[in-house]
Amino acid sequence: MTEGDPVLVNEAALRRERPEPKEDLRPPGPGLYLFFAGMTAWGAFYLAAYGGEDLRPRGGDSRTAPLLVVQRGVDGKQVYTANCAVCHQANGQGLAGNFPPLAGSSWVTEDQETIVRILLRGIEGPIEVKGVTYNGVMPAFPHLSDEQLAAVATYARGNFGNEASPIPVELVVKLRQALANQKGAWAGGAALKEAQKAP
Ligand code: HEC
Repeated sequence: MTEGDPVLVNEAALRRERPEPKEDLRPPGPGLYLFFAGMTAWGAFYLAAYGGEDLRPRGGDSRTAPLLVVQRGVDGKQVYTANCAVCHQANGQGLAGNFPPLAGSSWVTEDQETIVRILLRGIEGPIEVKGVTYNGVMPAFPHLSDEQLAAVATYARGNFGNEASPIPVELVVKLRQALANQKGAWAGGAALKEAQKAP
């Protein structure tokens, strides 16, 4: 070992060093494969359990953007829950023999005016809904604001499987004025049909 020779001086130190790390192809551990298998099984289970023919998200907020614009901040679902669900039920199916369904009802979906007329004046008299005649009393909701009535009508027309157009607030304003002098409720389905014919 000659003084001043850096190679020889450092040899001992070099031997003490750990070997250079080298990057090999190392297969992932079994944990990763288990994780993937688990995720796949969960996905398959989820699709089987909740998929069905309809993969749209269930529950939550299913309103579309145009509906939200029309409602101007009033939540139609909330108005429905507070004012209608007690009779027509949260799912719009009504109660057999007493409260007619809004789901699949032509009174709800056919033209825009009819449901607004019903909400403004109520119904007292026979009305046929999906082949069944009801003869109860549907209260009027003139105390709700134009925005609330448009929102709840829009909600009924766009949910429970119904796919009818939203109700603009302007239509509620117009019909409220037009019906201002009419006293009492609609005398059943015949009276509503009559109103549909009027210009
Ligand atoms: C107190 C119970 C009750 C409440 C609350 C009520 N309804 Fe009704 N509704 C009825 C009854 C009963 C009829 C059938 C009237 C008849 O037989 O003359 C009816 C009929 C209707 C109809 C026409 C028939 C049909 O099934 O399509 C619509 C539309 C309607 N209601 C919408 C609403 C909406 C929207 C609300 C909430 C703002 C509401 N109702 C709140 C009892 C109620």
